Amino acid sequence: MKRVIEVRNLNAGYRRLQILFDVSASFARGKINVIVGPNGSGKSTLLKSIFGLTTIYSGSITLDGIELIGKAPHEIARIGVAYLPQTENIFENLTVNENLRMAGYVLERDELDERIEEVAELFPVIKRYWRRRTGMLSGGERQMVAMAMALIRKPKVMLFDEPTGGLSPKIANEVISKIVELRDSMDMTIILVEQNAKKALEIGDHAYLLVSGRLVFEGGCRELLKHPQLASLYLGVSG
Ligand SMILES: Nc1ncnc2c1ncn2[C@@H]1O[C@H](COP(=O)(O)OP(=O)(O)O)[C@@H](O)[C@H]1O
Ligand SMILES: [Mg+2]
Repeated sequence: MKRVIEVRNLNAGYRRLQILFDVSASFARGKINVIVGPNGSGKSTLLKSIFGLTTIYSGSITLDGIELIGKAPHEIARIGVAYLPQTENIFENLTVNENLRMAGYVLERDELDERIEEVAELFPVIKRYWRRRTGMLSGGERQMVAMAMALIRKPKVMLFDEPTGGLSPKIANEVISKIVELRDSMDMTIILVEQNAKKALEIGDHAYLLVSGRLVFEGGCRELLKHPQLASLYLGVSG
């Protein structure tokens, strides 16, 4: 399988507090790579490490062979990574239009207009609420705008941290379907952290299980779902 992001022997955390221990994982191109694990196991920290937001003690993280460690988040974004944080991923005081322009501020005006047209095809909510403050939108609609913002610079890889958090099951399903659509229609590489492990593993391709900052499983999503011990221990599904 084709790898796009390679994490090698990563030790990382926040200043002197180490959270990730010797994590090695490779994420596949054009696939949905699902990271699961108990609360506090370091899932968000792994995504933040890829995006240059943690303290790295040792290890390597490459995107198509380019070392990301030591680069600032804006450089990592320029290289082709989009990161959708777990919370506060949108400017609630700005309109949908303003949010998209903010997300694409590095682009030339013409290119930005073109990109906005393209993402609006995928996310109808954009045209519907073009001039509305995003703070007025529902949770699901806000999440769609946030995904569109992440997409605006044509990233190679999208990192999603619990994009369905706090949403009703129906809306959560719509968000998940949108992520599947990104993979299938754009061949996007996605790294997805999900609280609803079962749902994510059902639609995902590759699975990574983090427990207490260590990677304890890497393999197929089906394989993890059916794993006799791990599934019942960590995923709340009977194997
Ligand atoms: N900014 C931070 N500073 C210090 N510790 C943090 C910070 N963010 C998270 N942590 C700690 O790191 C550990 C792992 O957190 P996190 O990666 O958010 O786990 P998960 O996403 O799997 O729930 C937790 O113990 C958490 O308290
Ligand atoms: Mg988290």
